[in-house]
Amino acid sequence: DYYAILMAGGVGSRFWPVSTSEFPKQFHDMLGTGETLIQRTFSRLAKVVPKENIFVLTNERYNDLVLKQLPEAEQRQVVTEPAMRNTAPCILYAALKIQKDNPDAVMVVAPSDHWIEDEDAFIANLEFSFTACLEHDILMTLGIQPTFPNTGYGYIQYDKESQEAKKKVAQFREKPDYDTAKKFLSEGNYLWNAGIFIWSVQSIIAAFAKFQQQMVALFEKGSVVYNTMQENDFIQKNYPLAENISIDYAILEKADNVYVLPATFDWNDLGTWGSLYDKLNKTEAGNAIVNARVLPEDASGNMIRTSDDKIVVVDGLKDYIIIDKEEVLLIYPKKKEQDIKKVLKKVKETY
Ligand code: GDD
Ligand code: MG
Repeated sequence: DYYAILMAGGVGSRFWPVSTSEFPKQFHDMLGTGETLIQRTFSRLAKVVPKENIFVLTNERYNDLVLKQLPEAEQRQVVTEPAMRNTAPCILYAALKIQKDNPDAVMVVAPSDHWIEDEDAFIANLEFSFTACLEHDILMTLGIQPTFPNTGYGYIQYDKESQEAKKKVAQFREKPDYDTAKKFLSEGNYLWNAGIFIWSVQSIIAAFAKFQQQMVALFEKGSVVYNTMQENDFIQKNYPLAENISIDYAILEKADNVYVLPATFDWNDLGTWGSLYDKLNKTEAGNAIVNARVLPEDASGNMIRTSDDKIVVVDGLKDYIIIDKEEVLLIYPKKKEQDIKKVLKKVKETY
């Protein structure tokens, strides 16, 4: 059977002031479509995976937000973490839980906050990967054609000559430095890791047993309490003891049964205001506008958003992020968008 786990524990601090640790970006309608990112992700996955088999992994502070935004999910489908431990611990915990439910399960691990334009292509890629993982003991990744040496992504080196649809991965490198990323790009046989993974519960648990013995030892004792009143006690006590490490470093860089399917869908990980700007439709003047009415628009290249459909008068400004949210107004150059994380820190220290 098909299962899905939706990772929704991140904070999205580069999308401040809209995204905050109390209300992170996956719970916002970032695209201005009327649906939040997690709602879109849930409905996209539900086209392939039965709704009752979709689990959401998130921090305990977001439990109520998840239930409210996904009325089709029940409490038993929400696994809440008392502490942020990155993606490896939550994936292992969920895989063990699903395995107990169904030892032959294959699962997709999906971030809750990505933009995927062509849903049909995504579904075709997902179904192909599920089938491959039912047949083989492999860890499937989806690869995106890189366009610039982004150091925030994982890079997947694959055999370009291979005629097969899915390619054996020669090397997985998480977040290389700039020069390495540049070299990878010029070599031409590297893809970006989309952060969407497909595998059987058997294969991923075997990989954890090989490379993260301690984590398996910590979590496997929990199987006796799944879906009982004691499960939360178990998580409260043991989850914070897990190593803080992402699945990329914990497993994918190490395993030798990793495969990649070059994705045929359009993908954007919506990490920053600029990446959102790139994806949104632009006005004639070249501004991307969400929830705002903008005049006179003698301004271009700006990402403009307000919280309550405000009228924004802007003139003579180029390539800026203009975000208004309740008590905060951010006017910041797009080219410095990576620094918003630091700005937020400073704001918190000062006010
Ligand atoms: N439940 C839970 N708990 N989810 C988490 C946690 C956690 O502690 N930490 C992160 N997440 C969620 C985030 O909300 C996001 O949806 C997803 O897991 C990935 O985490 P990121 O923090 O966004 O990872 P990244 O962007 O640095 O890198 C990953 O994604 C890139 C593509 O977007 C890696 O897989 C890269 O290799 C990949 O290229
Ligand atoms: Mg990310």
